[in-house]
Amino acid sequence: MKVLVTGGAGYIGSHTVLCLLEEGHDVVVLDNLSNSNAESLIRVQEITGKQVALQEIDLLDSAAVHGVLRGGNFDSVVHFAGLKAVGESVVDPLTYYKNNVAGTINLLESMQSAGVHRLVFSSSATVYGNSENVPLTEKLHLEATNPYGRTKQHIEEMLNDLCTSDPTWAVALLRYFNPAGAHESGLIGESPVGVPNNLVPFVAQVAVGRRDKLFVFGGDYPTIDGTGVRDYIHVMDLAEGHLAALGHIQRNCGAFKWNLGTGKGSSVLEVVDAFGKAAGRSIKYELVARRPGDAAVSYADAAAALADLGWSARRNLEQMCADHWRWQVSNPNGYER
Ligand code: NAD
Ligand code: WQD
Repeated sequence: MKVLVTGGAGYIGSHTVLCLLEEGHDVVVLDNLSNSNAESLIRVQEITGKQVALQEIDLLDSAAVHGVLRGGNFDSVVHFAGLKAVGESVVDPLTYYKNNVAGTINLLESMQSAGVHRLVFSSSATVYGNSENVPLTEKLHLEATNPYGRTKQHIEEMLNDLCTSDPTWAVALLRYFNPAGAHESGLIGESPVGVPNNLVPFVAQVAVGRRDKLFVFGGDYPTIDGTGVRDYIHVMDLAEGHLAALGHIQRNCGAFKWNLGTGKGSSVLEVVDAFGKAAGRSIKYELVARRPGDAAVSYADAAAALADLGWSARRNLEQMCADHWRWQVSNPNGYER
């Protein structure tokens, strides 16, 4: 199958490209490299021994996107490209709506005119907002609480409408929980620009000595140890979930939504402990006030993906930390040399 992967040079995209190549698919990546480095794809080629073409294009450049789709003879598109920092989206919402929503409209119009009607979309558990109905199921009402999350919610609604209007479309809406970890080779992984927003990359930078200590946001939640609980999913499990979803939409039309999570929550201090063990060093941390907007507990009901796709996460927190650490320690500055 020939697959176009938008945002394929990024963290989750590069791991998925690797899996697609290993499964024998032909892959073209469309990425403007605004939050990534082409080195990720060079390394994917090193690991797999296979070639991947990079089209350095912005999704907002509709003529260029059109050009790629028109001549491409693609079977399907996997759409990762987007901005993802919650705090930044609150400060600059228009940039988020433009990049994520308008960028997706450009992509869909080009797909429509090229006759490519199969799409896997990176949604997020953020669409559930701060729902307390854990485990979170796909049936819950969506109530994103920030502009980033609302871009995901709007795109999901747009894709539902598209599938209703034209029954030849097949779309998988994948709601990721908290991705972490890296490919077991340690050659590819997450390479955040500036201060990491997410817990695991921050902990990894503390472990490697790039940062002094972790600030733990809140120690008074009603959880096992007072710290926030999340569903951390290994990025390779996530990547494999995309292949399963791609398979499903080759055989079925319509809009499908699946949580991609493990179904198990871990607290911040459990992550700190597991990472410390993987790295063989203790992680310095300080308990500080809650981060505004954070939920106490979030984890997936992952039953639908298992029932419909035969997919479930195979890797645990220990393996995730070990793989994340292997990547971090051999690439202390990420892809920046
Ligand atoms: P990432 O930033 O590493 O990857 C996104 C990629 O998209 C980058 O390579 C970036 O350069 C590219 N991109 C952004 N805007 C673009 C545009 N206008 N045109 C072309 N390329 C563009 O992020 P990631 O963690 O790999 O996330 C991938 C997707 O998954 C995103 O849509 C994100 O919102 C979603 N998601 C991520 C998480 C997470 O915690 N990492 C959780 C849930 C959902
Ligand atoms: C996890 C836990 C924090 C950093 C975010 C987005 C969500 C999705 C995934 C894209 C929480 C605590 C964190 C730190 C800490 N992204 N923490 N100190 O908030 O669950 O989800 O990323 O779709 O949309 O909101 O993930 O990694 O930021 O936080 O104590 O320096 O770690 O309070 O309990 P979150 P996170």
